[in-house]
Amino acid sequence: MSDFVSSGWAWYVAALVVAGLLYCAFVLIGAARHKVIYDAQGNVDKTTGHVWDGDLQELNNPLPRWWLMLFIITLVFAVAYFFFYPGLGIYQGSLKWSATGQLQNEIARAKLEQDKIFGQFAGKSHEELASDPAAMAIGQRLFLNNCAACHGSDAKGSKSFPNLTDGDWLHGGSPEKIVETIAQGRQGQMPPLAAAVGSPEEVRQVAHHVLSLSGSGHNPVLAAQGREKFKAVCAACHGADGKGNQAIGAPNLTDKIWLHGWGEEAIVRAINNGIVNVMPAQSPRLSDDQIKVVASYVWGLSNTTKVADAK
Ligand code: HEC
Ligand code: HEC
Repeated sequence: MSDFVSSGWAWYVAALVVAGLLYCAFVLIGAARHKVIYDAQGNVDKTTGHVWDGDLQELNNPLPRWWLMLFIITLVFAVAYFFFYPGLGIYQGSLKWSATGQLQNEIARAKLEQDKIFGQFAGKSHEELASDPAAMAIGQRLFLNNCAACHGSDAKGSKSFPNLTDGDWLHGGSPEKIVETIAQGRQGQMPPLAAAVGSPEEVRQVAHHVLSLSGSGHNPVLAAQGREKFKAVCAACHGADGKGNQAIGAPNLTDKIWLHGWGEEAIVRAINNGIVNVMPAQSPRLSDDQIKVVASYVWGLSNTTKVADAK
């Protein structure tokens, strides 16, 4: 597009516009001039002398005055418009108006409004915000607009998208950790480990050991056989007791909360294929103030009953 608006084209546009205006003015003056025609007897002849179909005459009346005025007004308007606003190609207009400038003004005005709203929350703790209905109404709206697509409008998540209401955290549930998660995003990553575990049978044994950790349905013989492999391969991230490690986002395997499905098949799949699960960083889309309020909302979902009522 910027190629198109080279200076040559700007002059071309300006010349077209000026020529158009001059032409309109010229036609207008011509039409406004009333040529008086006299007939052979010296009387004013109100016809142009053209006759059709025997008696159909063309009259030669001037344009009605109001009609003429309308044309003049539009012409004056056009000239004034090109004086104040860009349109002449080479000339910016005396107001220096531009679509980008208008957008930036609007954004600045909106930001001012937003700062006023979020200003009232400055200096308040997440705990205070979580029991402030005004803050939570905004937090919920932010959540519905920015998070619900993945985490569900009730924040209860679905397969691969964590439930944010259950007090079980991959990366930590303190307000500070939640802010960090939202602003920077998270990447939950478990490498494929089939080779490290060994044969498919050994993978099955480890899977049953994992099921046994939470008291889920399992084969006790296989689970016992898988214990050592679990300690050797999985404990580094999930902990010797399987309770997980929030520093690297490794989930607690003892709580019957399954992000990626449960049962032998799902766990064997996790071991064989590994898992990559990404929460995109929200800091490019949300301001720090917005992140603080939506983090308080999320924190409140599992920490106060008051918040649920504020909906
Ligand atoms: C594109 C989908 C997507 C969007 C949008 C999204 N999330 Fe997430 N979120 C995820 C996924 C996937 C994870 C799990 C990451 C992992 O497995 O480590 C996650 C994890 C989280 C966690 C960490 C949970 C835990 O157990 O530690 C929080 C908190 C969170 N999201 C809050 C939010 C909030 C608040 C928003 C909106 C501002 C949001 N998310 C928007 C996909 C999304
Ligand atoms: C390098 C660290 C690491 C190792 C080693 C590791 N895991 Fe994981 N594991 C993770 C992470 C991180 C996640 C969470 C992925 C996510 O964010 O969704 C995970 C998720 C899982 C899940 C899914 C849990 C759920 O809630 O659905 C299972 C099951 C699992 N691991 C089992 C194992 C087993 C069995 C082993 C050993 C063979 C193992 N992991 C070894 C890091 C590891």
